[in-house]
Amino acid sequence: MPPVNQIPVTLLVRPNTLTTRAPHAGLAPRFVPRCSTKKILHEPMTSEPQLNLALRYHSFGNPRDVLKLESSQLVQRSADALRVRMTCAPINPSDIIPVTGAYRHLTTPPKTAGYEGFGRVVEASPQFAHLLGQRVLPLRGDGTWQRYVDCDPEIAVPVPDSISDSLAARGYINPLSAQFLLQKWPVANKRVIITGAGSNIAALLIQWAQADGAAQITGIYRSPERRDRLETLGVLPVAERDIYSVDAEAREADITFDAVGGPVGSRILNRMRLGTECVGYGLLSGQPVLPDSQNTAAHRRFHLRDELSKLDPEAWQNCFLSIWPRLAAAKLQEIQRIPFEDWQKALDLFEMPGRAHKPMLQF
Ligand SMILES: NC(=O)c1ccc[n+]([C@@H]2O[C@H](COP(=O)([O-])OP(=O)(O)OC[C@H]3O[C@@H](n4cnc5c(N)ncnc54)[C@H](OP(=O)(O)O)[C@@H]3O)[C@@H](O)[C@H]2O)c1
Repeated sequence: MPPVNQIPVTLLVRPNTLTTRAPHAGLAPRFVPRCSTKKILHEPMTSEPQLNLALRYHSFGNPRDVLKLESSQLVQRSADALRVRMTCAPINPSDIIPVTGAYRHLTTPPKTAGYEGFGRVVEASPQFAHLLGQRVLPLRGDGTWQRYVDCDPEIAVPVPDSISDSLAARGYINPLSAQFLLQKWPVANKRVIITGAGSNIAALLIQWAQADGAAQITGIYRSPERRDRLETLGVLPVAERDIYSVDAEAREADITFDAVGGPVGSRILNRMRLGTECVGYGLLSGQPVLPDSQNTAAHRRFHLRDELSKLDPEAWQNCFLSIWPRLAAAKLQEIQRIPFEDWQKALDLFEMPGRAHKPMLQF
């Protein structure tokens, strides 16, 4: 049997049009982004079953030990689901951390890893047949680190033609989180600290906080490779290990967005003034933030899942309408494409301090 990606497909190309049909039941046409109507109709030449390939874990642990590439026969999708053939998906800390068991109260193996990425719709119910061939983000269902993802058509996010593949694949977790963080804690005229400043979400927070009128942004970074880039973005770069400068910046800051936690996050929180806020949204250090007895600043926490639970499908789709143009204008790290089968090499790159590229699994 040929590998599933060699099963013949027929391509039917139509001119680009702004569809007047809503891609999601119940959504008004104004929510419809301009998307390619390139159609891919799968016409397998044999009656043999297609194969899925998925990176799965059956227990928590070190991702290198517990992630396994598993092949299985594709089962029939449920009648109302979309089936998406994945194109690419990034490796984010948000994908890796749950595999270690850090959120064992929220996830239970066996599970397919991966929370974002994009692909093209290859099967749909008649009601959603207009989505066939379209690029979508098949989110909030089964894991995305697999060749085929079945998803709820109300939640699948159509990708506008103006968005490149590399941006589409990164269009969810970090952009949505950065957008919510800045909505919940506005930064206009404030002095802002961003830790883990070399990360992809920090790049978005920096650029969008500048656009929102932040008075000054200090980026606390770990790897020295980050310094020049932060300066280019108009950020005051401060090395994590330069604790005197970290202390000085913390005393002046009005708000901190902290993705590192541990000694760095604790140090900043405990030096910020009364009436200021330190928002923890990640623990890259793997250690908690510990307020001391002198602590006066407010310690807030942010989890994207808490915001998502408040959104109906229309509000969810609307989030992306504001994200796409802002994302297209943002300066982001380059990606490095790595074949899905070489996922261990992708992990090697992911774990490299100071890396210049976001690892992107190609399916
Ligand atoms: N709460 C939420 O809902 C939410 C949503 C989105 C993202 N996040 C969090 O945002 C953070 C960044 O995600 P991302 O996708 O933007 O990451 P990314 O682009 O893959 O970058 C990872 C960054 O982490 C830094 N890093 C790794 N270990 C570190 C440590 N021990 N101390 C300091 N820095 C460390 C690296 O620093 P160097 O390369 O400079 O050494 C790199 O800049 C993660 O903690 C993630 O969980 C949270």
